Amino acid sequence: MFVRNAWYVAATQNEVVDQLLARTILNEPIVLFKNGQGEICALEDRCCHRGAPLSLGNATETGIRCGYHGMEFNREGACVAIPGQTTIPKRAKVKSYPVVSQGDYIWIWMGPAELADPAAIVNYPPDDHVNWPRAHDMLYLKASYVMVLENLMDLSHLSYLHKNSIGSSEDDSANAKMDVQRTPGGMKFLRVMRNADAPANWLKRYPTGKKIDRWADFEYVAPSTVLQFSGGVNAGEYDAGVRSGGHLIRTLHTVTPETEKSCFYFFNKADGYAKFEDPGKPRTWASTTDVFKEDAFMLEQQQLRLENFDTSQLLDINTDVARVQMIRALKERLRQEQESLQA
Ligand code: FES
Ligand SMILES: [Fe+2]
Repeated sequence: MFVRNAWYVAATQNEVVDQLLARTILNEPIVLFKNGQGEICALEDRCCHRGAPLSLGNATETGIRCGYHGMEFNREGACVAIPGQTTIPKRAKVKSYPVVSQGDYIWIWMGPAELADPAAIVNYPPDDHVNWPRAHDMLYLKASYVMVLENLMDLSHLSYLHKNSIGSSEDDSANAKMDVQRTPGGMKFLRVMRNADAPANWLKRYPTGKKIDRWADFEYVAPSTVLQFSGGVNAGEYDAGVRSGGHLIRTLHTVTPETEKSCFYFFNKADGYAKFEDPGKPRTWASTTDVFKEDAFMLEQQQLRLENFDTSQLLDINTDVARVQMIRALKERLRQEQESLQA
């Protein structure tokens, strides 16, 4: 079961320029496109005539034309033309979805349209390309979106899965200090490692020494978004209030379920250190995707293992403290939505 009353990222802006994009979201086939007036449209990707995918048709001035027998629909999903007849039956329509362009993304509302409030869309990372230049990417995973969120809640995995790139030592991880709190919209945690080993990737790029203080300040916004503020400074500097001079990022992670067992993992990383660098120096954006591919591989293997398995047999350990709170917040959000439907 999914939370429906929420904004999910349907696509990046550059996925919907001239082309029709077919994408399944929360098990619903959707076609995203721009009509001739440049408006972003999101319609059910199934023609009401014979069920052909509308994404095999073409955009028109106000909407889309089915590529099978030519019926036309406007951006509200109402049929506006049927070849060979002048009468358009009332039932001739497809479902339409509220969409909003914001930041690098097209956001879609999967619940009742009258509840869609664009003000609820998260505005992160900061829209400040001078101090926080950013880049984004997406990975498609054959794994539940919940597992991607859980992965972000238990950062002890950095010392194992990412030990050659962004992880500190296993001892550093064991000594990490965690502070977890619930918020009205989810939960947040602050994880601090003092006097830890600088990760391999950081040693290559930042002037900070081999021993650092590093922090990870994460906020989970239910149902499927995580806001990350992380950094690393020389050992001893964190408690003195220093928050720049080394690794410094603000990342939006937002995961859109395709089905119960597959998802689109969008991440958008703003780099607070880049302004200290020679602008001509090539940036290391690609390494973020490489690191997240390590997560993706593990999560897909985990998904295969968990299918047809009684997950109540799984075990919580100390490092699950944030993950457990995240799952509680997600379940609460689901329960609230179900109760509001029954009221
Ligand atoms: S299936 Fe779309 S017009 Fe026939
Ligand atoms: Fe990871």
